[in-house]
Amino acid sequence: MTQFDFIKDIARFGLENDQEKLKFSLQEMIDHARKTKKTNLAIQLQSILKEAIRVHSTGSASKVSSGIRFDKPSQNKVDDLILEQVTSDYRISDLICKPRIKESLNHFILEHRKKSLLEALDLPIAHKILFHGPSGCGKTLASYIIAGELEKMLMVVNLGAIVSSKLGETSKNLAKVFKMAAAGDCILFLDEFDSLGKVRDYSQDHGEMKRVVNTILQLFDYLPQSTIVIAATNQVGMLDDALIRRFDTQIGFELPGEDEIMALIDLTLKKGVFSVGSKRELKKIIQHAKGLSFYSIQKTLITAMKRSLYQLNTDLIPAQVTIDMNIWGSLVDDEKDSQNHKV
Ligand SMILES: Nc1ncnc2c1ncn2[C@@H]1O[C@H](COP(=O)(O)OP(=O)(O)O)[C@@H](O)[C@H]1O
Ligand SMILES: [Mg+2]
Repeated sequence: MTQFDFIKDIARFGLENDQEKLKFSLQEMIDHARKTKKTNLAIQLQSILKEAIRVHSTGSASKVSSGIRFDKPSQNKVDDLILEQVTSDYRISDLICKPRIKESLNHFILEHRKKSLLEALDLPIAHKILFHGPSGCGKTLASYIIAGELEKMLMVVNLGAIVSSKLGETSKNLAKVFKMAAAGDCILFLDEFDSLGKVRDYSQDHGEMKRVVNTILQLFDYLPQSTIVIAATNQVGMLDDALIRRFDTQIGFELPGEDEIMALIDLTLKKGVFSVGSKRELKKIIQHAKGLSFYSIQKTLITAMKRSLYQLNTDLIPAQVTIDMNIWGSLVDDEKDSQNHKV
């Protein structure tokens, strides 16, 4: 059967309200998508199916005959708390970092590949990980990599919104998103985790901060070991010590050194049509770029690639483009200047 046959079956069974056949066809389509390497489609469909089965099994008796419900009006409020739910194609090879960071990440991923084995032997599974370090050094990227490697959906939580807009409701809302992630077998990604520290600024109620930290501690304790929670912050100093201690693994990301900058350049050029100018010029740019984040350096390189391409003055796809090192050098200088002004 082709994907179109599955879609036709699903449409028919859905309209006929034949739930069993609908679920069966959907599962077949998921298996087919996996086999044909449409991993993202498979993960997203699996998540829809799981959530529908969960809602259905916990729903009231009157809902049983009405078929699977894909829209859940009662959950709209929770949706505001979630920035996005994504699948990812990123792999560990997309990250450039010191070997010990990669090792920690690989170990964490392995825990979940070997989950059944660990469970069978009654061994604990590390499932709470904290990423800290300067902005633009790979914290969000590493989260996408964990999701990509484990083929799980990443639920990105709008922690800022949870903390600022629903005063007094922070704890309740946090509990909701934790529950949703566990039920949908998603990875919970709490970006800008330091926002939790800001409850202090928003709330007149000084007990609120303590309550929120306590809620998180409790949610962490009760979260099933198979649910991964990733927290990321570039202000680790803002976090409560008790909170930091609760993570199974902590990874500190750093600004790139010369070796990492070189690796980033190779990764960005990906053996394509672009190549760098002389070794001496390259060395000079790398020296200049020190102190900038991976993100900023990559940004200057991509801009330099494009401008070097425009200089060729052609609409034909060139076989080879040498990057104009003067352009790149001055972009790096500009970037450094703008960073210095920010500080
Ligand atoms: N360590 C890294 N290795 C490779 N690319 C990186 C790295 N850090 C950042 N980048 C590039 O910069 C982009 C933004 O980085 P991101 O992970 O969002 O940074 P952070 O979350 O730490 O602020 C990434 O999508 C990637 O293109
Ligand atoms: Mg980030």
